[in-house]
Amino acid sequence: MSIIIAPSLLSADFMNLASEIKMLNESEADWLHLDVMDGRFVPNITFGMPIISQMRKLTTKVLDVHLMIVEPEKYIEDFHKAGADILTVHEEACVHLHRTVSQIKELGMKAGVSLNPHTPVEVLSDIISDLDLVLLMSVNPGFGGQKFIANTYNKIERLRAMANAYNPELIIEIDGGVTNKNAQKLVSCGANALVAGSYVFGAENPKEAIISLK
Ligand code: DX5
Ligand code: ZN
Repeated sequence: MSIIIAPSLLSADFMNLASEIKMLNESEADWLHLDVMDGRFVPNITFGMPIISQMRKLTTKVLDVHLMIVEPEKYIEDFHKAGADILTVHEEACVHLHRTVSQIKELGMKAGVSLNPHTPVEVLSDIISDLDLVLLMSVNPGFGGQKFIANTYNKIERLRAMANAYNPELIIEIDGGVTNKNAQKLVSCGANALVAGSYVFGAENPKEAIISLK
């Protein structure tokens, strides 16, 4: 299975979003990762539906929407209308996670659940077979450009073992501090999708940076 690369818009040049998206359309990237932050679940605020629906018009890539917001269940339909293909919610933000995941899938989107660095993967043992994707945060969510947390390798191995038993198709996506230095190890532990923000958009040649991750 080939590795999915998902550049994160958070580190793009917001004065030139159209040209950034054009560059990504011409690149080997598979998905466009969009980080929605509410200033409550995480100490930062980014963007919402209006930007996502504009990105939907511009991009040829799969829209991978990562919600770092409280009460995400209130907005599932809005993100679907805005054009999300994959909708990922945080386990820590969902009281009724099974219901929320079901609602995402009923609308025809792929359902993802994200875990903060401190949350053990075992918390998903009774829902793993219902998920399309698990996004492991390898930094504390909120900002781009942070240092990768090495305990993530161990979490990936434990999650891949659970997936092999209960959901072999599960996509394991890693988000935070991903570079060409750790990509190979992440994949050998069992990840198959990598988000990269500052590594891609901070590169002299972002298209080459994407290829180097692949
Ligand atoms: C962090 C976001 C990430 C972020 C990754 O809360 O979820 O998607 O953009 O940025 P880098 O790759 O710079 O760590
Ligand atoms: Zn993200």
